[in-house]
Amino acid sequence: MKPDVTPQGAMPDDAELLSRARTARARAYAPYSGFRVGSAVLTDDGRVFEAANVENAAYPMTSCAEANAVRMMACSGRVAEIVAVAVVGDGDSAVTPCGSCRQVIFEFGPTATILSSGDGGRPMINSITDLLPHAFGPKRLSEGQK
Ligand code: THU
Repeated sequence: MKPDVTPQGAMPDDAELLSRARTARARAYAPYSGFRVGSAVLTDDGRVFEAANVENAAYPMTSCAEANAVRMMACSGRVAEIVAVAVVGDGDSAVTPCGSCRQVIFEFGPTATILSSGDGGRPMINSITDLLPHAFGPKRLSEGQK
């Protein structure tokens, strides 16, 4: 999937970011679980990276939608701070990022807003630190490095 770049000056709002995550969900490769997830990551310079989950016949090699989108940003050639992550999963209730995705998001988005949704109800809105309290990250690591 190619990163999709939003034109300069047009910061997408929550609804737009969720819509882009929902669109990305259609590109999921989820033949084993049948559970599709899409994600859209917004950076502070206005770029949006969309991805979906990609499963593998060796099940643990599966990669989540959010982690894929974050890594697309990290590989884009310009690492930027993540300001928001939208995640949309199959089913009615909100899908919040799994534990390992929370850690991956925190690396580049220590103050990111997480918009979690399914196909029904209202999206759930949390900060990454609500979802991953007392997180370990780059700041704490550098403190202990000599
Ligand atoms: N999944 C995600 O893509 N993101 C999450 O945060 C939760 C789980 C995917 C992984 C797997 O392909 C499927 O959902 C079922 O766990």
